[in-house]
Amino acid sequence: MKITVITGSARKNGTSNYLADEFIKGAMENGHEIFRFDSAHSDMRNCLGCNACAMGSKPCVHKDDFVELRENLLNSDVIVFVTPIYYFGMTSTLKKVIDRFYSIDPQLKEKQNKAVLISVQHSPIEVVNESLNQQYRAILDWLKLENAGIINAIGIESVEQLKQTQYPEQAYAMGKSL
Ligand SMILES: Cc1cc2nc3c(=O)[nH]c(=O)nc-3n(C[C@H](O)[C@H](O)[C@H](O)COP(=O)(O)O)c2cc1C
Repeated sequence: MKITVITGSARKNGTSNYLADEFIKGAMENGHEIFRFDSAHSDMRNCLGCNACAMGSKPCVHKDDFVELRENLLNSDVIVFVTPIYYFGMTSTLKKVIDRFYSIDPQLKEKQNKAVLISVQHSPIEVVNESLNQQYRAILDWLKLENAGIINAIGIESVEQLKQTQYPEQAYAMGKSL
């Protein structure tokens, strides 16, 4: 299978990217092909809401890294969203990417891919990730994506501490299970 992993943290050696790496390791061991897109280090402009794409009938007016991502998304079987929680939601760089899905909305719906969500938060309180999970589920409903799993890592302070938890193993196993 082809899997597109979209990460949301600017911290290349941070906690969510560590889980992304573990997921990718498991998926690659299972023979899957990975395209990784680090949203915080990409040239990704904001959706202008100009509707020039007519919600998928015409190309987006921007010529940036979405051109390459678009091809990978449309050839993927699974889309994986990886993000730290910032103020009860995904990071703005990941959201900016998802907003650009508008220009391929009907094609994504038609494909009926699977999706995975991996989040990391500092707070140990589970309710903190509810709004992110709700938004993820709403996006999946809209785009007709099937949820293949959610990992919400909670109470995470550092990569060293994350390594002492079960979350890296969960991310690896999820990648391997696809
Ligand atoms: C701008 C900002 C907002 C944050 N908001 C929250 C939050 O609402 N709830 C929470 O538990 N942690 C919050 N955090 C902590 C991060 O989710 C946490 O440190 C996470 O592990 C960072 O992921 P990374 O190492 O992949 O960058 C926030 C951190 C930043 C920098």
